[in-house]
Amino acid sequence: MSYDVQRIRADFPILNEKVRGKRLAYLDNAATTQKPRAVIDTISRYYETSNANVHRAVHELAERATTQYEGARDRIAQFFNAQREEVVFTRGTTEAINLVAYSFLRPLLKEGDEILVTGMEHHSNIVPWQLIAAERGAKVVAAPVLDDGALDLDGWRALLNERTRFIAVVQVSNTLGTVNPVAEIIAEAKRRDIPVLVDGAQAVAHLKVDFAALGADFYTLSAHKLYGPTGFGCLLGKKARLDAMPPWHGGGDMIRTVSFSGSTWAEPPYRFEAGTPDMAGAIGLAAAIDYVEAIGLDAITAHEHALLEYATPQLHAIKGLRLIGTAPGKGGILSFVLEGADAQDVGSILDMQGVAVRTGHHCTMPLMARFGVSATVRASLACYNSEEDIGQLAAALNKAIQLLR
Ligand code: ALA
Repeated sequence: MSYDVQRIRADFPILNEKVRGKRLAYLDNAATTQKPRAVIDTISRYYETSNANVHRAVHELAERATTQYEGARDRIAQFFNAQREEVVFTRGTTEAINLVAYSFLRPLLKEGDEILVTGMEHHSNIVPWQLIAAERGAKVVAAPVLDDGALDLDGWRALLNERTRFIAVVQVSNTLGTVNPVAEIIAEAKRRDIPVLVDGAQAVAHLKVDFAALGADFYTLSAHKLYGPTGFGCLLGKKARLDAMPPWHGGGDMIRTVSFSGSTWAEPPYRFEAGTPDMAGAIGLAAAIDYVEAIGLDAITAHEHALLEYATPQLHAIKGLRLIGTAPGKGGILSFVLEGADAQDVGSILDMQGVAVRTGHHCTMPLMARFGVSATVRASLACYNSEEDIGQLAAALNKAIQLLR
């Protein structure tokens, strides 16, 4: 069946909103994706029929909530081809990375150690490492990025040495759309027995991820970038790694026994899930996965790729527009600057035309410095974007040029 973007758009109620009195062209999907009716309804239905705390009581609602919540873990594990014990629920990618930094790496880190990242990481894949490195006298080292926005893999390899204690890498850059060669990076890391974390926040809505086949020690994701709810995400961690990790947050549900002479911990993933969890978040993510699978992730990837190919020459044709990030095989992200125009001003003018984009440093200040800019305008694609959205973007950019020059 061919890809029917209008049918998909009809699944997303928010796309009918008028903004500034105009048709909405929502192109800020790397920041957060919109939610289909199926996800919104699943979350409402959970609160209307099943809400109770999980793992604690014998009453029927508690049983319904627990069944749906743990069922969501099975669904998420299946989608990413992980074991259910390897799926730790978190508030999102940021919390998942912090969990690994504090529970896994901090106890191992010694003075002089190095944590190897890349120059295109989001701040959430830089700052947690910097915090623990500063405590231990270790340092964070960043691999270079080429002029087209691809990772300089030789430069990355050249930074590996006997002090490299950990590797963290983004799979798809939120700012450039670059798809990194994570399989090669993981293979190299394994040869040297260095643990690897892959930040999949921008990948999971666009690429099929098989955690078992990938071989990374840790993989992180956020539900809200995969058509699911905000404030929820996962750390996928190899069972042997999680088993060896101490708790991070203390509280209810993460213990086996508690006494004033000492407490003992639950097995993973519960060891890392202190407190009442976000039941609706988990159930909502499982519904989002059902939604994506019903369309087919491959079909979504192909659609976004075709739209990127459609949009790129149109943007190139705009006088004074410079695309930042043109690496071969990149995902559906168009980051650019307009000569002589402030990105914020461009964003405001686009907004007046109903076009929602992100402007700024995109939480990647080192990458902005690498390209000698302080901000870009970023249009990012999702399954419901259409050629009409791209046309609206191009027209709004031409308007911005008239107004700003
Ligand atoms: N990380 C998100 C973005 O790139 C918020 O916009």
